[in-house]
Amino acid sequence: MSGFSVAWLDLREGADNAARDKTLAAQALAWLTADDTAMPIIVDLGSGTGSTLRALTHVGASPARDIPGNPTRDLVWRLVDHDPALLNEALRRHGKTHIIEDYEADLLDLTTLPLTGARLVTASALFDLVSLSVVDALVTRLVQHHAGLYAALNYDGITQWSPPHPLDGHVLAAFNQDQRRDKGLGLALGPDAADYLEMALSRAGYTVWIADSPWELGPDDAALVRELIPGIASAVADGYGLDRQALQEWQEFRLAHAATGRCVVGHQDVLALPTT
Ligand SMILES: C[S@@+](CC[C@H](N)C(=O)[O-])C[C@H]1O[C@@H](n2cnc3c(N)ncnc32)[C@H](O)[C@@H]1O
Repeated sequence: MSGFSVAWLDLREGADNAARDKTLAAQALAWLTADDTAMPIIVDLGSGTGSTLRALTHVGASPARDIPGNPTRDLVWRLVDHDPALLNEALRRHGKTHIIEDYEADLLDLTTLPLTGARLVTASALFDLVSLSVVDALVTRLVQHHAGLYAALNYDGITQWSPPHPLDGHVLAAFNQDQRRDKGLGLALGPDAADYLEMALSRAGYTVWIADSPWELGPDDAALVRELIPGIASAVADGYGLDRQALQEWQEFRLAHAATGRCVVGHQDVLALPTT
């Protein structure tokens, strides 16, 4: 899979935080601490530089070392990623304030995931990249460990631009097709990620909640939009039947409106908790 740079992850984090459904995030935290006999251990998959840690800390997850009293109840973050540079950056940012265990691991091999004792598994902007069989294998492991899942910011196939351009529909259709390409974790679920998670987890006996978490980008997000546009154009440039010149014009039009237009990119957050 192509790598994710710290710069790109930083650039999207503001929009991600604004988009996250705060009710589901709070509900995930409530599950984390609801059982006095369970250790508050979070396993964050595809952690990057720690965006989920930051987001949940922001909505109330205490940095462990601020909690007075019984140290065995401290919140532990197990960050899992295959990119050591991103894990190192997460440690650099949070190693002094949070209890972090970092795991360099490939999500293709779910047997190596550090799920022992985990109360909650989290991920952000991950499940649209993974395949159906990775989800199936993960659900089996969640059931074994009686762990909840909080999976935020799964792309849902909606991208709406304003002002409109005649090529928008064709670009979006091609982009959504490209989202299903294998990006290193099997044929990707792409826009079907949240629906598939809901189906697989419900079938496994979980109670599942889904909430929309769209990016609603305006002039304040121009820097992100300026990166998004060439990213989309390059993803759809080959193999989807788009005329090169027309795509170039679409890109130029979009960039010309990056600081004044609007763009909605749909996502969905998923929370799944064991029913019993
Ligand atoms: C879109 S980024 C999201 C990062 C972070 N959760 C965030 O929201 O900023 C996807 C993350 O998944 C990680 N990743 C991708 N494929 C992986 C794999 N096969 N095994 C482990 N991590 C993987 C990437 O390195 C990256 O950190």
